Amino acid sequence: ASGLRAYASASGGLPPRKVAVLGAAGGIGQPLSLLMKLSPYVSELALYDIAGTPGVAADVSHINSKAAVKGYAGEDQLGEALKGADVVIIPAGVPRKPGMTRDDLFKINAGIVKALVEACGKHCPKALLNIISNPVNSTVPIAAETLKRLGVYDEKRVLGVTTLDVVRAKTFYAEKAGLDVSKVDVPVVGGHAGVTILPLFSQAVPNAANKLNDADIDALTKRTQDGGTEVVQAKAGKGSATLSMAYAGALFADACLRGLNGDPDVVECTYVASTITDAPFFSSKVKLGKNGVEQIFGLGELSAYEAEGLKALMPELRQSIQKGEDFALEKQ
Ligand code: NAD
Ligand code: LMR
Repeated sequence: ASGLRAYASASGGLPPRKVAVLGAAGGIGQPLSLLMKLSPYVSELALYDIAGTPGVAADVSHINSKAAVKGYAGEDQLGEALKGADVVIIPAGVPRKPGMTRDDLFKINAGIVKALVEACGKHCPKALLNIISNPVNSTVPIAAETLKRLGVYDEKRVLGVTTLDVVRAKTFYAEKAGLDVSKVDVPVVGGHAGVTILPLFSQAVPNAANKLNDADIDALTKRTQDGGTEVVQAKAGKGSATLSMAYAGALFADACLRGLNGDPDVVECTYVASTITDAPFFSSKVKLGKNGVEQIFGLGELSAYEAEGLKALMPELRQSIQKGEDFALEKQ
């Protein structure tokens, strides 16, 4: 968190970078736009939504940090918003209400993501896409298929944002083990829905195995998997995580920008085209570089509990991927 606050002071000498936020007037879009305005890595910030962005852009633009801000509203302004973008962050789409799964959002969000990614393929085919819209397990395959159809797919540049799962796992683990949360790291692999979210507490740093028993690890795993639902229920019909997601989205976009700028050793968990399992998309630790995904790391050694979790998540993950691919192909 201190990194986000320290932003404005450390921006000298960085290359110019344009970031576009699609869905910028929404619950995630607004705080995310604020955080990207504070990023030292951003020189131009394009805020796009179907409506409401002139107000958000005017508001955010008064902040005395480097990025020049412009609002774009309505489809006829989408191309202009995307032109020259290095990173496009997509939190456009409807959020869950209590009782819904992320997959229940597919009907509406699949088409939204497909249309927005099509525009990215036309106007900024080299941009890194950060896909937040749910169900991420399906919207990332939709994005990939859509770009393939346009002949501009580069699997290194399409990234599903799972950073909120990592943020949650770190918070819950540090709290339970009595650790300084700023020094904690927990890889989270798989996908971004229920059991497909698999935190690897056996690989957490620092190791707190002497403080946590099997029941603790089971409870931490389930809380991480149900973190989104915990917020949906607490908001009681008013949507899902927006503030913690904006924080996580800004962390991830910054990591992408640092990679593009040539910073060495930028590693984040993200849901990408992958061969580390037999699912065509999978989230794991990924090194980000000048062209996006530079290296995908394997899963490392898993505990017996995690190995079971991995086995259990594969059918749902494969099914969600297939559903996304089928949708993108049907809608050609
Ligand atoms: P919201 O309803 O508050 O905002 C969504 C915004 O998208 C609105 O401003 C809406 O106008 C805009 N939008 C709709 N169609 C659009 C289009 N065609 N082009 C551009 N903008 C469009 O919702 P929210 O709370 O911000 O959540 C957005 C999405 O993010 C949901 O699908 C939610 O499930 C997802 N989400 C993902 C994660 C994650 O970890 N990946 C976390 C939280 C939420
Ligand atoms: C989350 O994890 O908070 C998001 O995917 C939103 C949701 O529907 O849970």
